[in-house]
Amino acid sequence: MKKGALIAITAALVVAVTAAFILVQKYAPPPARGDNAVIRLGPSAEIGGPFDLVDPGGRAVTDRDFLGRHMLIYFGYSSCPDVCPLDLQRMASALDILGPEGKSVVPVFITIDPERDSGKHLGDYVRAFHPRMVGLTGPEAAIKSVTNAYKVFYRKASQGAEYLMDHTSFIYVIGPKGAVRSIIRADTAPEIMAREIRRLLQTAPR
Ligand code: NI
Repeated sequence: MKKGALIAITAALVVAVTAAFILVQKYAPPPARGDNAVIRLGPSAEIGGPFDLVDPGGRAVTDRDFLGRHMLIYFGYSSCPDVCPLDLQRMASALDILGPEGKSVVPVFITIDPERDSGKHLGDYVRAFHPRMVGLTGPEAAIKSVTNAYKVFYRKASQGAEYLMDHTSFIYVIGPKGAVRSIIRADTAPEIMAREIRRLLQTAPR
């Protein structure tokens, strides 16, 4: 082999390996997030508040129905192809890790897609993740109001009957007196979620 050809092949290899390395860095899923995935809020945080929604049975459910218990709220939609199901699985796993310690914690799924998420469909969806998970929907105005209160961003991302939605993905931990105590990135490892929830269960209620 000529020296020139060898140099060319070596150069091409170096370029290919570098490109592969950059692509892996860019597209590989990030590692499970640590404590920096948790935002702890003080008493003056202006987030959260009352809501007035409907459960899969059509019954009115408000924030006051959960007073005395901790709540984990996640906003998403049942037609979400991958992000919501993975986030909800992580939330359910965190509760499994807590075991009996977390039995008073209520996981809540609030839909950002009331057009498609209601009734039996919504009930079946949430039960697939956790037997205690509560699914909530409501008129568009009620969903607007609660998402505004929790500073949740969402919008239709495509058209047609099978439309997708863009939305922020966080788990809000609400204390027994109704305060938003922590906001956890929904892609956080369940062990870290469980640790944060346990910490809140052991602190003075707010
Ligand atoms: Ni989603």
